[in-house]
Amino acid sequence: MISKMLKRAREFEKKYIPYTLPVQPKFHVTGGIGWINDPNGFAPYKGEYHLFFQYYPYDVRWGPMHWGHVKTRDFIHWERLPAALAPDEDYDKDGCFSGSAVELPDGRHLLMYTGVRNVRQRNGRIKDFQTQCIAIGDGTDYRKLESNPAIDASSLPEGASPHDFRDPKIWRDGDRFYAVIGNRGKDGSGTILLFESSDAIHWSYVSLLSACHNQYGRMWECPDYFELDGKNVLLVSPQEMTAIGLEFHPGNGNVCLIGTHDKKRQHLMREHVQAIDYGLDFYAPQTLLAGDGRRIMIAWMQNWETSSCTLQSLPFMGQMTVPRELQIRDGRLIQNPVRELEACRGVQIDYHNVQISSETTLSGISGRYLDMTVKVRPGREGSLYRWFKVYVARDGEHRTTIRYKPETSTLRVDRTHSGFPHDIVNVRDFPVRSQNGEITLRIILDRYSIELFVNDGEQAASFVIYTPEEAAAISFAADGLALIDVVKYDLDV
Ligand code: FRU
Repeated sequence: MISKMLKRAREFEKKYIPYTLPVQPKFHVTGGIGWINDPNGFAPYKGEYHLFFQYYPYDVRWGPMHWGHVKTRDFIHWERLPAALAPDEDYDKDGCFSGSAVELPDGRHLLMYTGVRNVRQRNGRIKDFQTQCIAIGDGTDYRKLESNPAIDASSLPEGASPHDFRDPKIWRDGDRFYAVIGNRGKDGSGTILLFESSDAIHWSYVSLLSACHNQYGRMWECPDYFELDGKNVLLVSPQEMTAIGLEFHPGNGNVCLIGTHDKKRQHLMREHVQAIDYGLDFYAPQTLLAGDGRRIMIAWMQNWETSSCTLQSLPFMGQMTVPRELQIRDGRLIQNPVRELEACRGVQIDYHNVQISSETTLSGISGRYLDMTVKVRPGREGSLYRWFKVYVARDGEHRTTIRYKPETSTLRVDRTHSGFPHDIVNVRDFPVRSQNGEITLRIILDRYSIELFVNDGEQAASFVIYTPEEAAAISFAADGLALIDVVKYDLDV
């Protein structure tokens, strides 16, 4: 039996999503209709990969959170499933917030999410209470447990907040289940709490896995924790982040803490901290361990600060990044688009040793659905060019500009002329680890996005654009002399 509220959402999806198909991105997940934010429950289930997301089908604005649902076999082609959860119980009446999923040993699919219940206080203000709740199902339909909530304030350590207690990420390790959950500690800043369970239903608190101490933002949302190439990695999405130089997003940021898990204290000993994505649009990443051992990450390709700026005509708001394979190289996080994207490549067009000084176009190098790699180096030995630019999604009126300055080793992406209906933050500068004027830029374009991967995944930067599809020219320019190699494939998804 599904609730009236969930039934309504499913009927609404069935009625309206078919009309939105002509304006959807080709290979980035959206809600089909309405609003989405964080990816949830990104995990393998019965040989496929499921992805849920924060979802409000009825408007292009955030509203009472449901969970939307898609699944895939290759991370590129997604099948839409009916909405999985609606905020239809007293303990989650104000939203089924973010969470995760795991396949149980008996083959059932368990979802754990944050149930939100707003309560008016004596002083007239509303406070929300957040608890962790469970729903179990078969990959399409889910039933919330009678015993919900599964983890409430009574399980919290002293000083932990019952109001900022959200976004459980669960995983199975042998015959035990673990969960990391975001919380706000005594000093008002974020903590990540570790819980464990033998059956994924009854949970107990283990330890404080990591704490923010007012460094790297304040409240840490949407944690994920996993082993990768011999290291332990914690991903968090901090609110109220201030930038440090050109490092880290101000506002709602994203951070990766790499270190070693101290088994005795059940604590992450930090060795390195870096931003996950340097673009304007990236938040709340979540990962899964694929059947072949790859750790794959997906994130909300949007930003809370700019999420009210969209095209009036679009029936949906928010999309996910392309899923990315993660690695650790030299103690740092490396990310590249899933290799399955390569199966969608069409004809290859390539150029070698092209001299670039004034603006140049190359025959066959254009398009709006593509995978293009540009390798840049100085054109004269011993003499650096001052800057190099690639313009994409270009016509007389529009362009998105990627500029590299070797002297300062910085990249700038400028989407000022990329179809936004009003002015928002459109420019981001960030440092790169290139040397001697050599840099490799891989650009993935879909209808409403540009994702940039620098130097074989050393850095990634994601940007939403709303440039009309017809603006498909690409050109190159340099101040000084640069030499480039270009390899371009159209993507046929
Ligand atoms: C992060 C977040 C989560 C919360 C969800 C609500 O984007 O604020 O902490 O669970 O969104 O939609």
